[in-house]
Amino acid sequence: MAVPASAHDSLIASTDPVLDPDAPRPATLEDVPGWFPVTDHRLFCWLLDHQREREIPGDVLEIGVYLGRSAIVLGHHMREGETFTVCDLFESEAADSANSAEMSDSYREKLTRRAFEANYLAFHDALPRIHQGPSEELAEAKLIAPGSQRFIHVDASHLYEHVAADLRFAREALREDGIVALDDYRSEHTPGVAAATWEAVRLHGLRPVALTPQKFYGTWGDPESTRHALIDQARRRDPRAPDLQVVYDEQVPRLWAGALPAQEQPRSRWFAEHEAEQEARRRAERTLQQRLPARARRLAADLTPPLAARALRKLRARAQERARA
Ligand SMILES: C[S@@+](CC[C@H](N)C(=O)[O-])C[C@H]1O[C@@H](n2cnc3c(N)ncnc32)[C@H](O)[C@@H]1O
Repeated sequence: MAVPASAHDSLIASTDPVLDPDAPRPATLEDVPGWFPVTDHRLFCWLLDHQREREIPGDVLEIGVYLGRSAIVLGHHMREGETFTVCDLFESEAADSANSAEMSDSYREKLTRRAFEANYLAFHDALPRIHQGPSEELAEAKLIAPGSQRFIHVDASHLYEHVAADLRFAREALREDGIVALDDYRSEHTPGVAAATWEAVRLHGLRPVALTPQKFYGTWGDPESTRHALIDQARRRDPRAPDLQVVYDEQVPRLWAGALPAQEQPRSRWFAEHEAEQEARRRAERTLQQRLPARARRLAADLTPPLAARALRKLRARAQERARA
């Protein structure tokens, strides 16, 4: 269960982001900037639903939230009595220069804790527990008890030392049958994640559960029953799915969006307001169109874009001028 905003372990927002007119007001998850592909949205939901069906208890942790895109989805899977914890640097300093450069190159421009909170509260009534600071502090912060987590998403720094440390922490924090999802394990620009991932598999007992184009899913427990359930459901959806890859004697399903149940785009508390605004805009547009002389409407319909669009814009501007005069 999410904890109230007042229970944060660091920096409390000075005004309620839901009441702040300058805070972001996403209508659906698609309006929240971030990196969370459809395939992984579907697989997160499938794995978390599978844990619920099997009555696996435990907390959830996300290391690296950015503006909240994947955190919002994780938050929808929390159950009574469970804690969702997130960790991100937000505006804080990174602990080393390489991580600091990574932050400047990829995240600093748009990232604020306040924007994360506003996005999250657009979809949920309360914030998760937030640890603001380098993920390496998590171990000494003692927020997370060993063996307490059922799902951890590792998506913070993509540099080798950081990912390896986050994986060491995840191993301690996860229940035996818990799942870790690891971002960018095969991208050209993140070789450190690839190195840390396969090193954990080869040397530290991490066993693959599934692979998607962007994320590696694994467990330090026994992956067989989850893998089988996943393979069965993928075959029901797409006869070509999954592609079974053998890595270090493990048969690992490689999945894509069509092999997983579709998920609705989560809607925020602002959805109805956005819809009403759009409808009002459409109505104003129709009224303007009706006011255009019939000859101009015919002309606009006959001409092909972009000529048509330009002509229509001029006619609209003239009509607006006439209306103002
Ligand atoms: C790829 S983004 C996370 C994307 C997010 N999960 C989503 O769904 O869009 C990486 C995030 O990790 C954070 N980060 C980078 N280095 C970190 C570190 N050492 N400790 C904690 N967070 C870090 C960045 O501030 C950024 O918000």
